[in-house]
Amino acid sequence: MAILVTGGAGYIGSATVERLREIDRDVVVLDSLVYGHREAVDSDVPFYEGNVGNRELVESIIRDHKIDACVHFAAYAYVGESVVDPAKYFANNTFQTNALLATLIDSGVKRFVFSSTCATYGDPVRIPIDETHLQKPVNPYGWSKFMTERILESYDAAYGLKFVALRYFNASGATEKCGEHHDPETHLIPLILNVANGEQPWVSVFGNDYETADGTCVRDYIHVADLADAHVRALDHLENGGESTHVNLGNGVGFSVLEVIEAARRVTGKPIEALIAPRRPGDPSHLIAEATKALEVLGWKPQFTDIEGIIKSAWDWKLANPNGYE
Ligand SMILES: NC(=O)c1ccc[n+]([C@@H]2O[C@H](COP(=O)([O-])OP(=O)(O)OC[C@H]3O[C@@H](n4cnc5c(N)ncnc54)[C@H](O)[C@@H]3O)[C@@H](O)[C@H]2O)c1
Repeated sequence: MAILVTGGAGYIGSATVERLREIDRDVVVLDSLVYGHREAVDSDVPFYEGNVGNRELVESIIRDHKIDACVHFAAYAYVGESVVDPAKYFANNTFQTNALLATLIDSGVKRFVFSSTCATYGDPVRIPIDETHLQKPVNPYGWSKFMTERILESYDAAYGLKFVALRYFNASGATEKCGEHHDPETHLIPLILNVANGEQPWVSVFGNDYETADGTCVRDYIHVADLADAHVRALDHLENGGESTHVNLGNGVGFSVLEVIEAARRVTGKPIEALIAPRRPGDPSHLIAEATKALEVLGWKPQFTDIEGIIKSAWDWKLANPNGYE
């Protein structure tokens, strides 16, 4: 029996494939390579380039590899682009996922781990954010994931699909093999490290007049290896007959943009110029997870809790792979 990992050539997907292989699980990767990197997945992992909505392809993978669970990372994840081109996001993240689910259910695969996001909460009305917090996304990306969560709940009730929807906060850091290489890059830590190694002259800080200690936005950074571990535990939960559930994945601690830049200066020894830019629409001042449900339900506790350790892992990966995955 094997696990189908969609989006396994992407940032979090490839780190999870690495982790699953470390514990001797059989994995098969399906990725369109629209954003992923073939080199992020070891050459001996069965790899299919294609779309998750391709029923014929997914049916043949399930049959040929005896798939009994799916970990679904495949999605587009640029919030700003989703505002300009929402159709692209609903088509890929919601409708393609729905097509994948139909194929899985019809083929008898009823265990599903889903990459959801803290963006499904929208502007927080309380901090830290627990799983019962109101979900009211403020952009189409968040809605595309919100809708998928509702689809999953309906399919559990109607077809017995068991799922774990993992609502990640800010994925960050790298393992020795797998790092963050998005094109375009929009995430703070890789952007800061692009300045540290001279690729960019400065990093923009979007707003310094928020109601936070230093005026810059505060986010919860969670290491990609901790995320990978949570997926393994979510699969175990479902294999042990666990009920469908929604779980936050975060550290429960927030760092401001300026604190992250300062930590990166210490880690890299580089000056890293930062320029204050106007606020971006839709950026809440704080996003911090209440992550105790993950401990209760999955037995998961993040191991990388200090921001310098997270940044150091990303910096080490960047030094070893200055051009990313080429
Ligand atoms: N990175 C974060 O901080 C973060 C936070 C919350 C949620 N998420 C979610 O986690 C998942 C992984 O994020 P990531 O940062 O690794 O993104 P990523 O872009 O690195 O990986 C996504 C992968 O999915 C593939 N893909 C996209 N649509 C596909 C389709 N229809 N069929 C097949 N493959 C397809 C892409 O080619 C890419 O390799 C996404 O679903 C994202 O929405 C990420």
